[in-house]
Amino acid sequence: MKIGIGNDHSALELKAEIIEFLKEKGHEIVDYGTNSTESCDYPVYGEIVGKAVAAHEVDCGILICGTGLGISLAANKVAGVRAAVCSEPYTARMSRLHNDCNVLAFGARVVGAELAKMIVDTWLNTEFEGGRHQRRVDLIMDIEKRNS
Ligand code: RB5
Repeated sequence: MKIGIGNDHSALELKAEIIEFLKEKGHEIVDYGTNSTESCDYPVYGEIVGKAVAAHEVDCGILICGTGLGISLAANKVAGVRAAVCSEPYTARMSRLHNDCNVLAFGARVVGAELAKMIVDTWLNTEFEGGRHQRRVDLIMDIEKRNS
């Protein structure tokens, strides 16, 4: 899979571990930054990765900030993005099965590296279930259309 990854200054170390983990599994990674420890604004990276996902430049996105919240909120402002903050594998699994999320977010100040890897692995290996969930996802996307 081709995966876009973005983060703020709080997540550099965790991002490096996640990239290594994903490369070992054979994924292609596009790193959209930041790659500096200098304080930066997470919405910038949320938007960049969100746009890459919406434009199908990558198959999906992974975003990391302190909590996962700010950077996912930013990505969710890009039309076509469904980003979910997941701090454990159950929510990660359900965000794919029922919500067809195309961006995974988590917090470098919330989860440790091993838990983050389990979350990422679960998320990448779960397919959308479709069926009644497709209708509900369509309803979410209708809200986006009505309000843009
Ligand atoms: C940065 O200090 C922090 O606010 C950011 O990483 C993130 O947690 C925001 O939601």
